[in-house]
Amino acid sequence: MKKVQFTETVLRDANQSLIATRLPYDKFEPILETIDQAGYYSAEVWGGATFDVCLRFLNEDPWERLRKIRAKMPNTKLQMLLRGQNILGYKHYSDDIVRRFVRASVRNGIDIIRIFDALNDVNNLKVAIEETVKSGAMASGAISYTTSPVHTLDKYVQMVKELKEMGVSSVCIKDMAGILSPQNAYDLVSALKDAVDLPIVMHTHCTTGLAFMTYLKAVEAGADVIDTAISPFSGGTSQPATETLAFALKEMGYQVDLDEDKLFKIANYFKPVRAEFLEKGTLNPISLTTDTQCLTYQIPGGMLSNLLSQLKSLNALDKFDEALLETPRVRKDMGYPPLVTPTSQLIGTQAVQNVLAGERYKNVGAELKAYCRGEYGRTPAPIDPEVRAKILAGEKPIEGRYADTLPTDIYEKTAEKLGDTARCEEDVLSYIAFPPVAEKFFEERKAREEKKVRYSITPVEEG
Ligand code: CO
Repeated sequence: MKKVQFTETVLRDANQSLIATRLPYDKFEPILETIDQAGYYSAEVWGGATFDVCLRFLNEDPWERLRKIRAKMPNTKLQMLLRGQNILGYKHYSDDIVRRFVRASVRNGIDIIRIFDALNDVNNLKVAIEETVKSGAMASGAISYTTSPVHTLDKYVQMVKELKEMGVSSVCIKDMAGILSPQNAYDLVSALKDAVDLPIVMHTHCTTGLAFMTYLKAVEAGADVIDTAISPFSGGTSQPATETLAFALKEMGYQVDLDEDKLFKIANYFKPVRAEFLEKGTLNPISLTTDTQCLTYQIPGGMLSNLLSQLKSLNALDKFDEALLETPRVRKDMGYPPLVTPTSQLIGTQAVQNVLAGERYKNVGAELKAYCRGEYGRTPAPIDPEVRAKILAGEKPIEGRYADTLPTDIYEKTAEKLGDTARCEEDVLSYIAFPPVAEKFFEERKAREEKKVRYSITPVEEG
């Protein structure tokens, strides 16, 4: 009997996709032990936007959150999402920082690190994968799934072979936009299974409504693990529901080791949580609907709404159709990058600029310039030489790996600058990832502790 395993995403991707990662630790603490006993392959609990949002909006130390989850979940593999050389931020860091971050993540409780790069440039994955393996954790190498004339099955197979060479224990097909169709999933999983002897993990979103069918065909082609979210936090821009897939796959004769009673408890726990966020307006009903527009335009749903709001703020909503047509043209000029953070922002913003200026690449942002200099890595296809020359205006592109050109003493310098404010390596890393946000968090932490000390001393004195 073929076994299909599940990764529960409610605490990371579902939380991020539906309620902008606003779930505080206290809101899910009481259910952690049940999740731990449900029989998941892993639970995705950390990384992605959780780190930034913990510090920025929830006044939580992300490292402490991870340690607390670890303590409550001793039996399940804890998983995080890492943006390769970007760690959890939006720019490139030096290798030394990437290695320190990986080591700290594992030290604080992570078992599996899923590592991806927006351009699928394996040079941006190499160091993180190497350090993960060295730290004794499992590296899952992800391909950022997209479609374009240069994204052929052969290209993906080639990439996955390179990932295997680097030491990954599994391969993840990461379809952040929900555009992977059932047939393409079948073909891709079959091709990867033929090429490498590694477990294949499927990751998609329900955005376009394809997800359940896509998982089914992927499993038929031999996929080993699927990413799902417990029903109250499933659907729409999130993952398909855990219970639904467990039910259907079991009925079809697959071995599913999930405990139905535990799933039922987890779902019941999250129902009122969902209702609360719906009432507060954090959960927008629009993110729960099916949006098939992205299939026609091959543009992720999030990017469509970004385009709309950009044009709205510029009072240029009448240019929407033009911007929609311009987006794939800019993407082609830029060598067909997958449309995922941060490349989706680069392409979308430039398309709007081109349409508004009435001349292509007349106004170009600093980020797109950096992209053309090679700071984001190797593009899937070469950037259009004429466009590149116009954007760079005589500046020279970088040879080789951008991370190799970065200073290697950032950690030491930052630690020295922070002094006593940083209490451990984790604090320094939080600061390196999000400087102003971490600084504000450190100040608030100090204030909170001083207050606590006052309160806890008073009763003793009155004793
Ligand atoms: Co996702």
